[in-house]
Amino acid sequence: MASYALVRSAIFLLVASMYFSASSGVSQYVLATICGQTQNQETCEEILQSDPRTSSADPHLLSLISLQLAMKRVDRNFDAFSQFRDNTTDPALKIAFENCVTLYQNMKDILRADYKLSQQEKYDRITDLGQLTTLTYNCENGISSSISPTAGITEDMLLIAQTAVYTNSYVAGS
Ligand SMILES: *[C@@H]1O[C@H](CO)[C@@H](O)[C@H](O)[C@H]1NC(C)=O
Repeated sequence: MASYALVRSAIFLLVASMYFSASSGVSQYVLATICGQTQNQETCEEILQSDPRTSSADPHLLSLISLQLAMKRVDRNFDAFSQFRDNTTDPALKIAFENCVTLYQNMKDILRADYKLSQQEKYDRITDLGQLTTLTYNCENGISSSISPTAGITEDMLLIAQTAVYTNSYVAGS
């Protein structure tokens, strides 16, 4: 009898804590739902949790956070590819890096527009985030060097793009 009461109060606590975490911000369940759709669930969760606001974010804020994280990374990569372009003495690589700079400028424009839509809570009009992945690939595929110096930042960009895609489709549907 005593153990039955114990189990009951344990279940009550469990349900109460699930309810509490669901109502006070992003639960582990929501993060797993979003990130389980990406190529790397763990990295996606790390990306979102790198912003300290995530643990107490509602879906609206989570959308903004995911877009801000993507914008920060796109800005950084834009600068990196500009440097690679300026530094290289290989004419073919210079053209490839210049192409990347243009593609990352496109990504900046897409994200600025989507961020505005997110601020207005028009999530169903955020439909072009998938292009971030395409543009990231287009950049990297243009670099013919056998050991691409930018493979690492491209890989990171793809995961951040996927994180933004699935965060916003989750928010649009919730
Ligand atoms: C480009 O060159 C500058 C100056 O030498 C250097 O500080 C920077 O790290 C280089 N950037 C890249 C991406 O190689």
